Amino acid sequence: MRLLVTGGAGFIGANFVHQTVRERPDVEVTVLDALTYAGDRSCLAPVEEAVAFVHGDVTDAALVEGLVARSDAVVHFAAESHVDASLVDPWPFVRTNVVGTTTLLQAVREHGVRYHHVSTDEVYGDLALEDPRRFTETTPYDPSSPYSATKASSDLLVRAWVRSFGVRATISNCSNNYGPYQHVEKFIPRQITNVIDGVRPQVYGRGANVRDWIHVEDHNSAVWAILERGRVGETYLVGADGERSNREVVALVLELMGQPPGAFDLVPDRPGHDLRYAIDATKLRTELGWRPRRADFRDALAATIAWYRANEAWWRPAKAAAERRFAARDGSEPVGA
Ligand code: NAD
Ligand code: DAU
Repeated sequence: MRLLVTGGAGFIGANFVHQTVRERPDVEVTVLDALTYAGDRSCLAPVEEAVAFVHGDVTDAALVEGLVARSDAVVHFAAESHVDASLVDPWPFVRTNVVGTTTLLQAVREHGVRYHHVSTDEVYGDLALEDPRRFTETTPYDPSSPYSATKASSDLLVRAWVRSFGVRATISNCSNNYGPYQHVEKFIPRQITNVIDGVRPQVYGRGANVRDWIHVEDHNSAVWAILERGRVGETYLVGADGERSNREVVALVLELMGQPPGAFDLVPDRPGHDLRYAIDATKLRTELGWRPRRADFRDALAATIAWYRANEAWWRPAKAAAERRFAARDGSEPVGA
């Protein structure tokens, strides 16, 4: 199989490429990535010899068309992915997430290529803390942030291309990922690298918000299951029953890093901050037989902490700039400055 992976120099895409090279030597991988601030070619260094890399933009119709024409399938990870950044400047989100997805859809339509669209549970908005329900494939779309609104738009475009043009597409909506190569702007790596730097973790609001954590390898094994065995036109929710409040996560990070559990600061909340996400992955489990392999959060978080300790050379160049962006948003001094 000739597989085009967009966003393969970002967090989830790079882990997907590693997993694919490791487990599927018959797959020829081409990565298309614009190397924005969130992309880093060195994420692919361990698999460099096995992968073709194209530095380019998913909104470049001629480039995308040429690459899709030479592929059997596309997995589309490329996106602007950070909620906080979308609250400051939504335009890159509209451009990449909406226009970029449309560009890919036109190309897969023209060449009859199988397409998998990687999306997020944030398209469903949020749940109350005490609500017994979880998101399912039939939960109505209700995005809260510019980021999630552009991801919801992209999902709807995929559905329209399936219905109107017969494009062979599937969609996955996954919960919060963690693991190696995640950018230091995201919650778990930000707090791990703060502790390494002797800085107190920064928790928004009261820290009561709940996220449903899944290890990135489990997300990517689900993407493969859907690509190979998913029904065209269907959506599959991906999650590993990992609901935890931000306070619980930060307390565990602190414990695993030998710090007292209360050694964090509560800081001003994110505007429009979604309260809780929770995924019901029954469809993926029953229809495709998928199971998470890294669902022990304590173990996988400890491994993630060990990875950040061992790979400071990878994250260090992005850390100060990420902290300057956080400080610019709330008018404070960068932590660790
Ligand atoms: P990321 O920000 O770490 O990586 C995004 C990658 O896309 C980067 O390599 C970047 O250079 C590239 N990119 C951005 N704009 C581009 C463009 N115009 N053309 C080509 N490449 C471009 O993001 P991530 O966390 O790895 O997320 C990957 C996908 O998974 C996104 O679609 C995101 O919405 C989705 N997702 C993420 C999570 C999560 O917890 N991180 C959960 C569910 C779904
Ligand atoms: O649910 C899937 C989504 O998860 C993906 O679609 C997004 O691309 C991904 O970034 C993530 O979105 P979140 O907004 O949930 O992730 P983030 O890591 O930014 O924040 C996780 C939680 O931690 C959220 O409740 C906000 C909070 N937070 C975040 C940061 C960066 C803090 O309390 N302090 C922080 O410093």
